Amino acid sequence: MKFFIDTADVDEIRTAHEMGLVDGVTTNPSLVAKSGRDFKEVITEITTIVDGPISAEVVALDAPGMIDEARELVKIHPNIVVKVPMTAEGLKATRTLADEGVNINVTLVFSPIQALLAAKAGAAYISPFVGRLDDVGHDGMEGIEQIRTILDNYGFASEIIVASVRSPLHVLNAGLIGADICTIPFGVLQQLVKHPLTDVGIERFLADWEKVPK
Ligand code: E4P
Repeated sequence: MKFFIDTADVDEIRTAHEMGLVDGVTTNPSLVAKSGRDFKEVITEITTIVDGPISAEVVALDAPGMIDEARELVKIHPNIVVKVPMTAEGLKATRTLADEGVNINVTLVFSPIQALLAAKAGAAYISPFVGRLDDVGHDGMEGIEQIRTILDNYGFASEIIVASVRSPLHVLNAGLIGADICTIPFGVLQQLVKHPLTDVGIERFLADWEKVPK
């Protein structure tokens, strides 16, 4: 399973990249706002850190507007993936842009049927939001299982990005289901590394090492 980092904070991206954990990056308007930086400037800097797919989201709501924004975004770097919302206009934009060879990440996907539509429209990536579904009492990961089955049934090439990840359990289940990618916030990435028994083990080894005659 590929790991993307879900942030527009370049320090977080650099740290995770140094750990060898970053295959790509996803951003969204909220994450860019949190970075406090100019959109184009921050996306451009991310392309200098990570050599992999970097999602940048359009904000227009109509297909022509999305297409115009997308054509500008892809000029930044060949690794740019354009994030388009899962709406009728978003699907139109996806079809047009995919036909032009632009890699599209259809975002804000909350049902397996929406994922099927995104795949049919030619999305390179599909982002179902598991955490936001869990927040409203639905099982987000159950949807991932169904999306995996549907895409495999018909041999769609679209890759599933498990998004809106809140905990290590989401990452574990994404791996068990066979999702292609998990996009992980920096805090959760740090949680993945940690295990109390690892810390205890290190302490014991170091204590015993002191007893070795020197
Ligand atoms: C996906 O690409 C989104 O950026 C992200 O995963 C949304 O997560 P949130 O629900 O924590 O905002």
